[in-house]
Amino acid sequence: MEMMIRARRNRRTGAIRGLVRETKLGVEDLIYPLFFHEDEEDVAIASMPGCVRWSVSGLVKEVEEAYALGIRAVVLFPKIGERLKSSDGAECANDEGLVPKAIRAIKKACPGMCVITDVALDPYNSDGHDGIVMRGEDGELKILNDETVDILCEQALCHARAGADIVAPSDMMDGRIGAIRVALDDAGFEEVGIMAYTAKYASAFYGPFRGALDSAPKEGDKKTYQMDPGNVREAVRELILDEEEGADIVMVKPAGPYLDVIARLRDETTLPVAAYQVSGEYLMIKSACSGGWLNEKAVVMESLLGIKRAGADMILTYFAKDVAGWI
Ligand code: PBG
Repeated sequence: MEMMIRARRNRRTGAIRGLVRETKLGVEDLIYPLFFHEDEEDVAIASMPGCVRWSVSGLVKEVEEAYALGIRAVVLFPKIGERLKSSDGAECANDEGLVPKAIRAIKKACPGMCVITDVALDPYNSDGHDGIVMRGEDGELKILNDETVDILCEQALCHARAGADIVAPSDMMDGRIGAIRVALDDAGFEEVGIMAYTAKYASAFYGPFRGALDSAPKEGDKKTYQMDPGNVREAVRELILDEEEGADIVMVKPAGPYLDVIARLRDETTLPVAAYQVSGEYLMIKSACSGGWLNEKAVVMESLLGIKRAGADMILTYFAKDVAGWI
């Protein structure tokens, strides 16, 4: 058989495959999400096997271990005590609260770690929503936008005062990126970055996370602020707004079921694009592998490589520490 071109020549050895590989995953691409609470014990999270809700001291130890493995960014998710929750989530801006305490402890022990914080009301809000809830005269729940944005600005300032490097608004209120940018700049925090949850979908894949933080909405769903899973043009619209409002990094969430959205945002922006492999994606892989049906290491690496290939510059993943050890 006469053939000038044989595509398999570039796949013949590991060395050649390494030379021609287009997408690579490095430990510097990873952001490690961490859960913690005010209790003294480190507790296994039932809805997310392999994940732990850390005490603050356990959290610091975990951060140091991750750092030693090469991880340079973490994102913090607190479980707030029920007694501290309220309808306006005011605890979110308490300088002596759990998150500022954790930021200071991490920065003291591990100053080189980039600390990213979640900005949203759901862990603090007695209604379990990302914004302030009001009941309209028709009995319908309404999530108040502008009132929520005012509190999110206070929350972002509180995180900045404690030493956060980047704040990450995950609430999906309109105008919050611009408002937070102005609030940070006015307070002299022009160096604190904003990672915007730009295209955050109203997804069923967040279930295990809400179990981990006990933060599920008490009533209703998040469809009036998180995006409809059918939409991609709308993601571009959100991107344009977040760019105009001063976002430094834009995010797509979830990641695996939304690879086309990642690719689209990659094409439409010069900003770095982040993708969040969320709790449900983690749990699907974990459960298939714990049954021995799939090879965990291979499947995790392939799932993350796929997210990078789609166009993500960085990935938030609960597998970050495992991956850092494997690489
Ligand atoms: C809340 C928030 C959620 C996640 C990150 N920030 C849950 C939600 O929007 O209901 C989900 C992350 C995951 O599922 O891993 N603002």
